[in-house]
Amino acid sequence: MTEKKKTKVIRVNVDEPELEILEEAARVLREGGLVAFPTETVYGLGALAESERAVEKIFAAKNRPATNPLIVHVATLEEAKTLASHWPQAAEELAGAFWPGPLTLVVKKSDRIPAAACAGLDTVAIRMPAHPVALALIELVGAPLAAPSANPYTRVSPTTAEHVMRGLGGRIDMIIDAGPTSSGVESALVTVVENPAEILRPGMIDRQRLSGIVELASIREIVVEDSRPRPSPGLSRNHYSPRPRVRLVEREEFLALLDSGEGREFIGVGEEDEGKVYHLPPDPCGYARGLYKAFHHFDRSDVEEIIVEKPGDDSGAWTAIFDRLRRASSKSR
Ligand code: TXA
Ligand code: MG
Repeated sequence: MTEKKKTKVIRVNVDEPELEILEEAARVLREGGLVAFPTETVYGLGALAESERAVEKIFAAKNRPATNPLIVHVATLEEAKTLASHWPQAAEELAGAFWPGPLTLVVKKSDRIPAAACAGLDTVAIRMPAHPVALALIELVGAPLAAPSANPYTRVSPTTAEHVMRGLGGRIDMIIDAGPTSSGVESALVTVVENPAEILRPGMIDRQRLSGIVELASIREIVVEDSRPRPSPGLSRNHYSPRPRVRLVEREEFLALLDSGEGREFIGVGEEDEGKVYHLPPDPCGYARGLYKAFHHFDRSDVEEIIVEKPGDDSGAWTAIFDRLRRASSKSR
């Protein structure tokens, strides 16, 4: 158990963060505390990546198993390279094309990051976020920040400061509120340790865009149960799940179930909110931006089951969305 803390919320402007306000958060981090901050994907739970004690606090606050390594966030490419013992050509090219942005690169680690942050692996996951607040914060702290998504282990990632407060309030020192995140699902995770590079977790930077830059290994089933985590420790089925059961169905079945509804809620595809259906936009960017907000919304209700109409066509940027929907709907209970 972690001790009960008072979690302070500070508000900053998303486009031009007030540095004097952010400085308070930077000080908490420098002293080894836990601060949740916005990135363009989801809110992260930040701590000094180089401090073993600070990193251990992240695992405790989230109830996250020590076998699940963290992503280390940097503000510059130079800093990223100091965290790697070897910086492959593929890393150089992918970082050049997509950083800052929702792409995390797994490389061989240097000694700068303690083993605890990387779950004892000899690799480290690094990302340069494209969010003015995240970048300003890392620069103010003057050191890389380890930051997993700021939710209790296995729960839905937060896209607002309120989501963070609901999940981790009382367990962390501070939350920086800069409004809802713009991208909505977690970064694409790509390992460049071996050639060719391989996607470990799909994101909104899709396979086609990545393969325009480097050669990619073919797709394999990477969802593994918690017992022996490979190739990416955190990709168990239990991730990204709201409390109610999630069922992913074709439109025809969705419409049939709509009429039979006790104890169920519905997430459909469309522009307007009508009747009992919570609608998400028909384009992948809009859908991704709203998905976790919808999950958090139903997390709070006493509904037993959420029926989700299959969106899009499981290609391009939809792949990341289908990945999260499938994980949510295959949650073991
Ligand atoms: O968009 C994001 O990536 C967000 C924001 C906050 O940056 N972060 C995030 O972190 O989603 P997290 O901890 O929830 O997910 C990180 C994933 C986990 O599945 C973890 O197992 C994997 O990255 N990972 C971390 N280090 C790894 C490594 N060295 N090798 C393979 N997978 C790794
Ligand atoms: Mg997470």
